[in-house]
Amino acid sequence: MRETKNQKPDLPYGSYTESYIKEIFMKIITLLGSARSKGNTATFLDWIEKELKSLGHEVESIYLNSKKINSCLGCFKCKEHTEKIGCIQNDDAIEILGKIINAELTIFASPLYFWGFSAQIKALIDRSFSLVTNYHQPNHASLIENKKQALLVTGGGAYENNAEPVFTAFDRIIKFYKGIKAGELFLDKCTTPQEMDTKIKDKAIKFARKIAG
Ligand SMILES: Cc1cc2nc3c(=O)[nH]c(=O)nc-3n(C[C@H](O)[C@H](O)[C@H](O)COP(=O)(O)O)c2cc1C
Repeated sequence: MRETKNQKPDLPYGSYTESYIKEIFMKIITLLGSARSKGNTATFLDWIEKELKSLGHEVESIYLNSKKINSCLGCFKCKEHTEKIGCIQNDDAIEILGKIINAELTIFASPLYFWGFSAQIKALIDRSFSLVTNYHQPNHASLIENKKQALLVTGGGAYENNAEPVFTAFDRIIKFYKGIKAGELFLDKCTTPQEMDTKIKDKAIKFARKIAG
């Protein structure tokens, strides 16, 4: 019987083959889109990451605020390439996009800012236009086709009349990438990380297990 992705195989660790490990454990990239490295989003994301690691997955966390990510120039030069990131800008976005291509799952984590993504996450999403190939053609594709994406958003308000636009945008973005949505979560009525109790931590653990399943 094959193990599911979130069950470690019942074998002594040393006996796994490299290809077997690759098959059951994912390479995961997390993108923290808040400037507050110990804020609400970071705290919740940290619990998710710890759970994913405890399940055996390889997790690389990227704190976008410390990276140089320019705005998309809208020059369409990237569209001259179909097999690589054709963006002409030379900043940290290129390396991050490369990591997203190589990962099986990317988790976008953003505070809700004015009904949308934070500027850090939005800048990277705009630059991910360079991953889309054969744009507006019948063979439209992307370098992250069939890769999993998940979205975590924290906000001060409730979901109603507040958080829906960011999740609608994310659905469309994934469709544009031809990716797979692994999950989405809005953590509402956030105050401070100190107020985040074990109930909220359990939510993070549950979410981690869902998106890694
Ligand atoms: C500029 C700004 C805009 C915000 N806009 C919203 C909003 O539209 N809806 C909402 O629920 N909360 C909004 N908030 C509250 C944050 O989303 C919330 O406090 C979030 O959990 C902060 O995450 P962090 O601690 O990771 O930075 C806003 C906060 C700031 C600073």
